[in-house]
Amino acid sequence: NYYAILMAGGVGSRFWPVSTAGYPKQFQDILGSGSTLLQTTFFRLAKMIPKENIYILTHKNYTEIVKKQLPKIDEEQIVAEPAMRNTAPSILLGALKIKEKNKDALMVVAPSDHWIQEEDKFSENLQQAFDEVEKEDKLLTLGIEPTFPNTGYGYIKYDKGSEGKVKPVIKFTEKPKFEKAKEFIEEGNYVWNAGIFVWSARFIIESFDQYLPEMLRLFNKGEDFWNKDGEKEFLEENYGLADNISIDYGIMENSDSVYVIPADFNWNDLGTWGSLQDELPQDEGQNTMINCKLLPIESSGNIVRTEGSKIVVLEGLKDYIVVESEKVLLVVPKSKEQDIKKIREKVMEDFGEY
Ligand code: GDD
Ligand code: MG
Repeated sequence: NYYAILMAGGVGSRFWPVSTAGYPKQFQDILGSGSTLLQTTFFRLAKMIPKENIYILTHKNYTEIVKKQLPKIDEEQIVAEPAMRNTAPSILLGALKIKEKNKDALMVVAPSDHWIQEEDKFSENLQQAFDEVEKEDKLLTLGIEPTFPNTGYGYIKYDKGSEGKVKPVIKFTEKPKFEKAKEFIEEGNYVWNAGIFVWSARFIIESFDQYLPEMLRLFNKGEDFWNKDGEKEFLEENYGLADNISIDYGIMENSDSVYVIPADFNWNDLGTWGSLQDELPQDEGQNTMINCKLLPIESSGNIVRTEGSKIVVLEGLKDYIVVESEKVLLVVPKSKEQDIKKIREKVMEDFGEY
């Protein structure tokens, strides 16, 4: 009774210009590993979960891409969202469909765009999580030892002294301000939320009933349609009416049934160009190249990517992102990588979609 939903509906705007609204990063081979992030995630989960129990949730514009990248799965496993409403509505929809199939289903919710090393340790942690939520109603998440006050993550304060692998969560804070994040890290009993959740389909639906009751009421109008004719029409009419809210703000910050397993594996959310550098080889000057050949002259700490393996010569450049897509060349200091989201919007305003 193990199930999974892969969240593949995000836009990945901080990886622009390579990640675009038409072709977001989860569908790309960002690391140059030979498979896309979605494919890697699918096969990592398929080691533990029957392939036919893995659902891909994505915006309707991307279903064709998913079909192409995972040609062997059943079309029914690709769930098309008619509107972008963030993760809470999407997860609720996934849980309702899964519970209709199997009322005792246990499920993992996994982002489709992360990097995980040591897949065996990941599987072990996932098994521990499944065992735990089978015994007791819990909202379980995997936690990552924090290394710096990153404001793009959820912070989990947990009871470090408690026995066993599964720790009670004292407080969940989604995306704190920098000062808060700094305090959290200094305090020491915090982990980052990896965004990988494990629970029973029944209990997450009950949690929606408690914390996002209107959303559940909206979706319950479709209860006769799950996995049947009429589902698509129901969603077309109603999905867009759901609040635009993430599972973190909507449920995890509020529920008192949240628990965390501090993860044993290496993890990187591949959130920005700079974050890639930790996982890719670097030359003596700490320059990272993707898809290109580099001649660095007094240049260090750069991350460089081209279309079609160009030779790139850099002289006197330090800590820059130099990234080329088919239509755009972006040159931004690494310290400003969080601005790429805004830069992309500005380009779209001035030049249309790129
Ligand atoms: N199906 C679907 N529909 N997927 C979505 C949608 C949607 O509307 N919006 C986002 N996703 C997918 C993204 O593609 C990604 O795989 C995952 O859901 C998480 O969304 P993000 O937008 O990347 O969230 P985040 O990075 O800001 O924050 C979350 O992840 C952090 C770790 O990477 C939170 O869970 C944080 O607490 C966490 O630390
Ligand atoms: Mg993310």
